Amino acid sequence: MIVEVFESEKSLGERAAEIMAAQLKEKPDSVLGLATGSSPLPLYQALVEMYQRGEVDFKDAASFNLDEYVGLDRDNPQSYYYFMQDNLFKYVNMPQERIHVPYGMAENIEEELRAYDKAIEEAGGIDIQVLGIGGNGHIAFNEPAESFSRGTGIIDLTEDTINANKRFFESADQVPRQALSMGIKNIMHARKIILIATGEAKAKAVYQMINGVIAPSCPATALQMHQNVIVLLDQAAAKLL
Ligand code: F6R
Repeated sequence: MIVEVFESEKSLGERAAEIMAAQLKEKPDSVLGLATGSSPLPLYQALVEMYQRGEVDFKDAASFNLDEYVGLDRDNPQSYYYFMQDNLFKYVNMPQERIHVPYGMAENIEEELRAYDKAIEEAGGIDIQVLGIGGNGHIAFNEPAESFSRGTGIIDLTEDTINANKRFFESADQVPRQALSMGIKNIMHARKIILIATGEAKAKAVYQMINGVIAPSCPATALQMHQNVIVLLDQAAAKLL
């Protein structure tokens, strides 16, 4: 793992955007794996600015988001589909038909999960995957567990995650209890990974991810086995390193 530490979220975001833009320049039809939440926001903002300056082009790219809440429709402002439109896609030229987010209202969830994995495979796999990390060491919504998850699955969110994410809802009661999420296997198959973590609340999980024993009790430790991971941190998240 390569670890880089930044003075500000802005400079961190610009570095992450530079990596994404280099990927798109080298392979314009890259398949991007994308995350939601606070961590990637500086990246998305920097990418929008680069796009406005004509420095990055999404016209041949495709994207697959990591996860989505079960039971929220795409026009719900708390859904991850909506988040992605609002923070990235409405500003750039990624073709809508090549944007993929698991569908949390699917009538047949099992079918949706299988179709998502198949679509990733048919697109040629993920070239570059953006990740955040939960304070409990989760990546995507792969919560601490007894074994590493495989393909896209349905996940029961832990109380930790519900509490961490209630800031986006009116109250903790309104946070959905389940999500659809890519599995650790999907993430490990990405050719390159950028993990972004900011703030002191992530310091312990970041330390564990880099130095801990590889174990599903801290799902992010799986990344120690990946050959091409760049970890971008602010000083608070890097505090224990
Ligand atoms: C989001 C996701 C989650 C978040 C993590 C950190 O798509 O997969 O794993 O990356 O919960 O969230 P933030 O960035 O909001 O602290």
